[in-house]
Amino acid sequence: MNATVSDRKVHVPLGERAYDILIGPGLIARAGAEIASRLKGRKAAVITDENVAPLYLDALVKSLEASGITAATLVLPAGEKTKSFEHLMNVCDKVLEARIERNDFVVALGGGVIGDLTGFAAGIVRRGVRFVQVPTSLLSQVDSSVGGKTGINSRHGKNLIGVFHQPDLVLADADVLNTLSEREFRAGYAEVAKYGLIDKPDFFAWLEANWKSVFSGGAERIEAIAASCQAKSDVVVADEHENGQRALLNLGHTFGHALEAATAYDSARLVHGEGVAIGMVLAHEFSARMNLASPDDARRVERHLKEVGLPTRMSDIPGALPPAEVLMDAIAQDKKVKSGKLTFILTRGIGQSFVANDVPSSEVLSFLKEKHPQ
Ligand SMILES: NC(=O)c1ccc[n+]([C@@H]2O[C@H](COP(=O)([O-])OP(=O)(O)OC[C@H]3O[C@@H](n4cnc5c(N)ncnc54)[C@H](O)[C@@H]3O)[C@@H](O)[C@H]2O)c1
Ligand SMILES: [Zn+2]
Repeated sequence: MNATVSDRKVHVPLGERAYDILIGPGLIARAGAEIASRLKGRKAAVITDENVAPLYLDALVKSLEASGITAATLVLPAGEKTKSFEHLMNVCDKVLEARIERNDFVVALGGGVIGDLTGFAAGIVRRGVRFVQVPTSLLSQVDSSVGGKTGINSRHGKNLIGVFHQPDLVLADADVLNTLSEREFRAGYAEVAKYGLIDKPDFFAWLEANWKSVFSGGAERIEAIAASCQAKSDVVVADEHENGQRALLNLGHTFGHALEAATAYDSARLVHGEGVAIGMVLAHEFSARMNLASPDDARRVERHLKEVGLPTRMSDIPGALPPAEVLMDAIAQDKKVKSGKLTFILTRGIGQSFVANDVPSSEVLSFLKEKHPQ
């Protein structure tokens, strides 16, 4: 395969923090060369998890060494619990032990958990060292590896401790997705569909026509990842620190986060992307209820997400959910409520989402009661 022909590049133009995202087949084997041609450092600390390590760590280290880069490695447990102070300390210690200086770099090889944790460590060790993302889950390739949000969880909630620290390079190897479980792939796909629903109706229509090829791999998969990275980059460049429009990326997430909390973050019942899928259908239905959009749009969103195998209704979640009032409390905790009004991402139709600052919480509660009768 002539890999360079099918590589796609998305440039994130953030001034002195600008970087490239490369998307293509076989990128892990070429990582050393791509990094060495862009970064000066010849020392790296590679952080990964126990699922990804046996599959891709050797190939990545060999590729770095072939380009004259020495690599220290650290393999952490897989899963959301790894985004903790304990493991942050382990990563910081590994980076210092490897004597990573400011021109050297840290590599995150894994999904969003490893990316968020490693990015945070890179942002604070020596007040910031260089950082390369090698995302290996679909979610991390299309979302978490781009945009510079890094962090860990606190007992007060998810992602509450962290810094903005942009990577210096993102290498998204589309082939590694072949070892991802079908369920994790679908969950990442919900975020891909999200970009269409935010402001790219043509992309959503393209996904409706081409999703099978995106799932099976090849050119369409690379196209979908590149379009998603471009969409995320556009939003991040317009509002890097989330003062306004970056909130659009939370379409479906207010309901989704409430459902994740209601299922105690038990991945056997619900993973993030599945919550987002149900949340996006709810956001479209709620917008129709507020007479902002046609109910046909909500049906169209649901049809597509269901077709790819994602859950689309609260009743699709195995096990009992708490009553609507408890879901509403979770929403109120996630979003600041100002005198009974909530900030929500609503829509006027497919690809016409907007930030609404004045959604009455009473409306949301009666909508939830309707959707989830006890
Ligand atoms: N920083 C951001 O902007 C941002 C955005 C969205 C999500 N996130 C964060 O991302 C995290 C979720 O990311 P995720 O869904 O990638 O979760 P994850 O990192 O837990 O990966 C999911 C599972 O897939 C495994 N895996 C990853 N790549 C694999 C591969 N190629 N083959 C086989 N198995 C593989 C992992 O070991 C893990 O078990 C959450 O913590 C979330 O808060 C961050
Ligand atoms: Zn998300």
